[in-house]
Amino acid sequence: MSENMTGENKRQRIMSGMRPTGKLHLGHYFGVLKNWVKLQDEYECYFSIADWHALTTKYNQTQDMKQNVLDVLLDWLCVGIDPNKAVVYLQSDVAQTAQLHIYLSMITPQNWVERDPTLKDLAKIMKDKNENMSDLSYGLFGYPVLMSADILSFNADFVPVGIDQVAHVELTRDIARRFNNIYGEYFIEPKPKLTQTPLLKGLDGNKMGKSFNNDIKISDDEKTTENKVKMALTDKNRLRRDDKGNPDNCGVVYDYWKLFGSQNEIDEICDGCKNATIGCAQCKMKLAKKINESLAPQRQKRLELQNDLGYVYDVLKKGSKQAQQKSQEVLDGAVKMIKMYK
Ligand code: TRP
Ligand code: SF4
Repeated sequence: MSENMTGENKRQRIMSGMRPTGKLHLGHYFGVLKNWVKLQDEYECYFSIADWHALTTKYNQTQDMKQNVLDVLLDWLCVGIDPNKAVVYLQSDVAQTAQLHIYLSMITPQNWVERDPTLKDLAKIMKDKNENMSDLSYGLFGYPVLMSADILSFNADFVPVGIDQVAHVELTRDIARRFNNIYGEYFIEPKPKLTQTPLLKGLDGNKMGKSFNNDIKISDDEKTTENKVKMALTDKNRLRRDDKGNPDNCGVVYDYWKLFGSQNEIDEICDGCKNATIGCAQCKMKLAKKINESLAPQRQKRLELQNDLGYVYDVLKKGSKQAQQKSQEVLDGAVKMIKMYK
């Protein structure tokens, strides 16, 4: 950690979060977590399990919340998020963020929230599903402001996010600038840090997601992984074993090969497929083996963590405490700027 003359930590700060949706899949791993693991060496990182955000849509389905938080935490830790490098915390443990949210909500024009593209999509989905508009809560509409409060709670410089969340970081910048204009220069305008990895499709060729049951979980066992890979989409024109295939029309299996195989193995699969010296079933078995080998250390670590839940809960408790301290500092400064009676 680099320190300047005043002993102040000079590393730039990162904040990001994820909803506790339960066990995470390879899309999370390659799209988000691998990146976080790298970032924790270069930045001061705050990673939040965003359980308040989960409530914005699932306020009436909370029975799995505790398990989901634990599963996300186990997945983060087993892939190498290191509590000695990054602060890992539970959003609802940090009341300071809720306080900051109140202040930010006062200065955020209503139409800024209303033009949020994610919320527009969501409202449309609800409508299409014929769900009542009254199922969309006040808290849901405040979701982007709450996310801004998450980020500004730590005065973060960067927010690593997927493309779907960039609009929220832009809103955060707008809110930070508005605060600074009204009360005086205080908040950093955080920049989105786009994750470059291409989107990993689900095994059926659709968007990967647990609701489609087309994902491989980090925590899946080897047999489950194998069974899932067996179901994967392949070249539709390659119906018989001796039909020659084309990996570029393969759908998803070849994409996964590109992620998990060495260049040699990828070339071998490509040749074998084009010359029909390897069949799809065999190709998939090999791939499943490859995926299992590659994830073995993480899965092993996860099992160990599961047998040491006291430690795991402790990580979150300590992280939340660190997050409280930092965000209290930032909050105190903001409240002072606002000139509240203190
Ligand atoms: N809104 C994000 C999502 O739904 C999760 C999230 C909550 C987040 N707080 C954040 C992401 C702060 C980045 C920064 O996926
Ligand atoms: Fe895809 Fe492999 Fe079948 Fe070729 S052999 S179509 S790469 S699954």
